[in-house]
Amino acid sequence: MFSNKAVKATLFGSLLVLAGLMPLQASAACEFVSTKDGSPLPIKIAEDDTPEAKEFLTTCVNPYTKLYVADPEQAKKGKRKFGYYSCTQCHGGNAGGQTGPSIIDDRWQYAKHDTDKGLFETIAGGTNMGMMGWHKQVTNNPEMVPTDDILKIIGWLRASYQGSGDKPWLK
Ligand code: HEC
Repeated sequence: MFSNKAVKATLFGSLLVLAGLMPLQASAACEFVSTKDGSPLPIKIAEDDTPEAKEFLTTCVNPYTKLYVADPEQAKKGKRKFGYYSCTQCHGGNAGGQTGPSIIDDRWQYAKHDTDKGLFETIAGGTNMGMMGWHKQVTNNPEMVPTDDILKIIGWLRASYQGSGDKPWLK
């Protein structure tokens, strides 16, 4: 049997480990910058965020991307969001472009769009050249787009990609 002292020492040790880890976890977050001017774009985990949204806001990795690229049936969830928020009005029903640019080819307006983090920053926070920000925290409007819906849209855009070259978002 363990002596009482050994148990206490073990417990104390675990507490130290926990105390050391906790601040690390609390500060782990994906740091976003505005596409407009490079300033910080503070998008926080909300209580009603999905596990996928929380994962992305912590790691900068969009869990829907690989899932949707592998499974076109699943990807339709992203397409539905794209229509629901009327992104179709400017980018067309299949995101191939209308008054706004195609967003499924390799001609990105900003180089960072070859990462999901960069694409998220543009959709969430908007640009200087014709597109508003859509995120509910950016617009301060609860009717606007939550993190999870932007991630589903990005996953569908990646699944619909028609361009050539590398697909860094799958790495
Ligand atoms: C009112 C028209 C309009 C609507 C609605 C709109 N966009 Fe845009 N979008 C634009 C324009 C114009 C640009 C180019 C902006 C620039 O170059 O700065 C753009 C750029 C983008 C880009 C970057 C394109 C690239 O080639 O790098 C993405 C991604 C994007 N939009 C996604 C969306 C999504 C998702 C929605 C819906 C939530 C949406 N847009 C709704 C007009 C629109």
